[in-house]
Amino acid sequence: MADPVLMLDAVTKSFGTTVVTEVIKGVSLRIERGEFTALVGPSGSGKSTLLNILGLLDRPTSGRVAIVGEETTTLDDAGLTRLRGRSIGFVFQFHHLLPGLTVAENVMMPMIAERGRTSKEMHPRAVRLLERVGIAAKADARPAELSGGQQQRVAIARALALDPPLVLADEPTGNLDTKTADQIFEVLREFNRELGVAFLIVTHDPRLAARCDRTLTLVDGRIVSDVRIAAT
Ligand SMILES: Nc1ncnc2c1ncn2[C@@H]1O[C@H](COP(=O)(O)OP(=O)(O)OP(=O)(O)O)[C@@H](O)[C@H]1O
Ligand SMILES: [Mg+2]
Repeated sequence: MADPVLMLDAVTKSFGTTVVTEVIKGVSLRIERGEFTALVGPSGSGKSTLLNILGLLDRPTSGRVAIVGEETTTLDDAGLTRLRGRSIGFVFQFHHLLPGLTVAENVMMPMIAERGRTSKEMHPRAVRLLERVGIAAKADARPAELSGGQQQRVAIARALALDPPLVLADEPTGNLDTKTADQIFEVLREFNRELGVAFLIVTHDPRLAARCDRTLTLVDGRIVSDVRIAAT
């Protein structure tokens, strides 16, 4: 069997030095290739903290994290950055697009960071991704000229720029009205169905969680339920 896209073993995370607070209290987890998973739980339960560890943006206090079979404990920061770049896409509640660049240039950013320079196939690839998310017509616009939903589509295209096997999304629809949230969710679903990209999506919206294949519930730093819904 292929390596899971993500494996956590007994991960903990504490903050503070004089007063130490354990926020993640021993999480073990496998995410398989192509899985479409929701991560839910009360505010303050540790969802974003866990996502930062899964995304190699932060290191656990103890325990192990492996991404596509690669053990990360022994990697230095440069090694983590390389692995993150080629394996994981990120979508956040606020899109963090660069205002001075065009939409297409924003989507090219991860490609440029990976290669260390621009090359002529990058722009067409960015436009193809923008076609997939339905806003190729805005390729030359600035992010500020777009609606919130359109900006989030650009952020999704950017997250998929390097064809990662896994995308982590922290409340990607948290800032959007219900109808736009549904559309954005459908865009994520299509990348999952058509390209087999695994998603882990933090959401407060039970309607959206119900449309995932699997729901993980985090309470007070522990996964208290892990439910898979049979494919329909
Ligand atoms: N850098 C930090 N230093 C100290 N405490 C932190 C830090 N980051 C998070 N925490 C604490 O960890 C706990 C979990 O925070 P986290 O942001 O992971 O929760 P969450 O489940 O994402 O909440 P929300 O649903 O509100 O986004 C909180 O009590 C928070 O104060
Ligand atoms: Mg959070």
